[in-house]
Amino acid sequence: MIGQLPDFPWDTLADHAARARSHPGGVVDLSVGTPVDPVAEPIREALAAVADQPGYPTTHGTAELRQSAVDALARRFGITGLDPVAVLPTIGSKELVAWLPTLLGVGAGDLVAIPELAYPTYEVGARLAGAEFLRADSLIALGPQRPKLLWLNSPSNPTGKVLPVEHLRKVVEWARERGTVVASDECYLSLHWDAEPVSVLDPRVNGGSLDGLLAVHSLSKSSSLAGYRAGFVTGDPVLVDRLLQVRKHAGMIVPRPVQSAITAALSEDQHVVEQRARYGARRKVLLEALLGAGFTVDHSEAGLYLWATRGEDAWTTVAWLAERGILVAPGTFYGPNGHKHVRVALTATDERVAAAAARL
Ligand SMILES: Cc1ncc(COP(=O)(O)O)c(C=O)c1O
Repeated sequence: MIGQLPDFPWDTLADHAARARSHPGGVVDLSVGTPVDPVAEPIREALAAVADQPGYPTTHGTAELRQSAVDALARRFGITGLDPVAVLPTIGSKELVAWLPTLLGVGAGDLVAIPELAYPTYEVGARLAGAEFLRADSLIALGPQRPKLLWLNSPSNPTGKVLPVEHLRKVVEWARERGTVVASDECYLSLHWDAEPVSVLDPRVNGGSLDGLLAVHSLSKSSSLAGYRAGFVTGDPVLVDRLLQVRKHAGMIVPRPVQSAITAALSEDQHVVEQRARYGARRKVLLEALLGAGFTVDHSEAGLYLWATRGEDAWTTVAWLAERGILVAPGTFYGPNGHKHVRVALTATDERVAAAAARL
């Protein structure tokens, strides 16, 4: 199995990381989207309050958790009509992304469609299932293919691109005609700047039916809960139930204290608004600094990254920034078409972001 997997991309950054770390002012690590801000107090309290849990938690999560997810999607994104039974907590969303093809029974001879430039785990998930994968951003590029599963990711990691309602609607219609399951990775839905992202759960996209649709949500970025491993999937009740049945057998269970933390995080929006404001301020500083240093920033209208280029090979830009003690990810981590871009994460403290801007 290990032979079917690509090298772990970040391992290949080691030399540049060493160079960046040797900067006298210290490294500014903008290469990974790992949150740095404190976990909101009510969430920590919710976690600690259920520390005495000798028994097994349920795979389906508590009724409170499932209701809080439905309520949060309604409050934050105007999505109504979801049945709490069709909410399933996940151990962060990466594990779900990696195992979704397998959990859905996608396997050898099947095709998984992923975006041209994509979070690497979509490809990993296809490989783990022994399925083929195809990078395509347009239905034309997919041609006569009939993928078993198609991934959407708007706002995108790495480009920050937001897909318009019309595009999402066409993809859903196309997929339904072919019996393709659409999985929409919506982990950056609450982080938007110059465009308003739309969920696949929105009736303007799905025509009021959840058939064949899964929306994958993460609390890692919106609530700075990457360390808790907190996410959920919802959508088509039949598909969610299928996932639940397999996950019950496989022991893919969110710990009970984390279930409480998820419930607390989904029951309150103020910390999400504050977190978004923090990233918005850092984005402004980094965007101005990159433009001032002669970079072009493409897309990046939402999400947690700036998709930047100097019109040269991505690794040359990585090296140029590492000389200045700034570590970023080359666009090639996300697909061959990223060869001229670097991905600059907004996930560093205000102090580190200011240091990066000064160096640029
Ligand atoms: C597009 C996308 N999906 C999923 C994840 C996984 O996040 P988590 O496992 O922390 O929920 C990430 C993390 O960066 C991501 O960028």
